[in-house]
Amino acid sequence: MAKDWSPQSWREKPIVQVPDYDDADLLARVEGELAEFPPLVFAGEARKLKQHLAEVANGNAFLLQGGDCAEAFAEHSADNIRDFFRVFLQMAVVLTYAAASPVVKVGRIAGQFAKPRSSPVEAQGDIELPSYRGDIINAIEFDEKARIPNPKRQLQAYRQAAATLNLLRAFAQGGYANLEHVHQWTLGFLKDTPASERYQELADRISESLEFMRACGVNPDTDASLRTTDFFTSHEALLLGYEQALTRVDSISGDWYATSGHMVWIGDRTRQPDGAHIEYCSGIKNPLGLKCGPSLEPDGLMQLIELLNPENEAGRLTLICRFGADNVEKHLPGLIQAVKREGHKVVWSCDPMHGNTVKASSGYKTRPFDLIMSEVRNFMDVHRAEGTHAGGIHVEMTGKNVTECTGGVRSISDADLHDRYHTHCDPRLNADQALELAFLIAEGLKKERAIRGPAKPVIAAE
Ligand code: TRP
Ligand code: MN
Repeated sequence: MAKDWSPQSWREKPIVQVPDYDDADLLARVEGELAEFPPLVFAGEARKLKQHLAEVANGNAFLLQGGDCAEAFAEHSADNIRDFFRVFLQMAVVLTYAAASPVVKVGRIAGQFAKPRSSPVEAQGDIELPSYRGDIINAIEFDEKARIPNPKRQLQAYRQAAATLNLLRAFAQGGYANLEHVHQWTLGFLKDTPASERYQELADRISESLEFMRACGVNPDTDASLRTTDFFTSHEALLLGYEQALTRVDSISGDWYATSGHMVWIGDRTRQPDGAHIEYCSGIKNPLGLKCGPSLEPDGLMQLIELLNPENEAGRLTLICRFGADNVEKHLPGLIQAVKREGHKVVWSCDPMHGNTVKASSGYKTRPFDLIMSEVRNFMDVHRAEGTHAGGIHVEMTGKNVTECTGGVRSISDADLHDRYHTHCDPRLNADQALELAFLIAEGLKKERAIRGPAKPVIAAE
């Protein structure tokens, strides 16, 4: 962190991807109000996540990060949150069991509202309007009034994040995540697909193991780790006025923390070394993600790592790679070799979504599931070749039975996209595709373990 860092020092730096609010007084009033609101997460929780991520950096755990591309005000229901959580737990349990690796669980949720856009305007016919930038900024309807950035939406985003987090905490700690419920996480529409059948078999084996352990005297009533799980939240730190208002001093350490979520990341479009987003993130102590796209050269990455993690703290920095399936072999080895040469401790995670977006002939934005799988495979192959740990995955997914990414065992075609295409932004994996991906990763991790040896975490999985 620079010596003159403060929660507002980013305001002196060049900034991109921010909305033009026309009512500066209203914006200041809203930010003042947010600054008085309770923190959503605590510094101690962010520190705990950092410790877990340090295990990932050291090769002894795996990071599962996922959720909506963009959360929406109109889709804020208990059912949506629960169904997302079920699929997420299924993925987590597949990875924990099949790969015998502790899994660090981080949702892209409870704060993922602001979106960077490739163009500031959107044209439909002869009409041109400001682009939709996420529900925290403006509304998605293609209508002049809806697209005007409204500061008050930040208050609604805060309240939605608080309610979402509250429910997630209850699910994670209150019994829903109990391993004895491993069969009940399967969603109703997920029957008879190969991935769900594979899941049933795995769940049977887990139940059997639990019965064995119960006979030995260990069971969910006596051991909380079988009954609960640690679930953390994350989002892109894009709307810095909102982030600043929720940046608080931790009374124990005296350090600054973003309290809008446990982990925040910096997007591929906002990672200018002298820009506002890097400045803000350099001064908070939360675990950070950095999106790494094809335009990031090894030297540029070294510079960013120095800025974001000068003390080389394991767990502080997760590099989220998103190159596109055919570009992994071209870009990733150079970055890995530079990181190894400099001795930087990082988590390597793979975002197989954002580099594989195409426009279908039907006009929908989609992502071929084959390419998503192939990016993950290539990512794991490169790490195996370099002798480094393929530490994590970052996906856009939902518990709803959507048809947004083409392919998968149910073979969604271009023509099917319109059927259940609900996303507010980018196409997400549905439950079936998410499970299939989890099995693929578990196999990759097993191959890695055959070379590097079993995971030996210092701190237990929670
Ligand atoms: N507490 C352990 C963990 O989170 C085991 C566990 C409990 C778990 N419930 C779970 C693992 C649900 C995956 C999914 O890893
Ligand atoms: Mn997205």
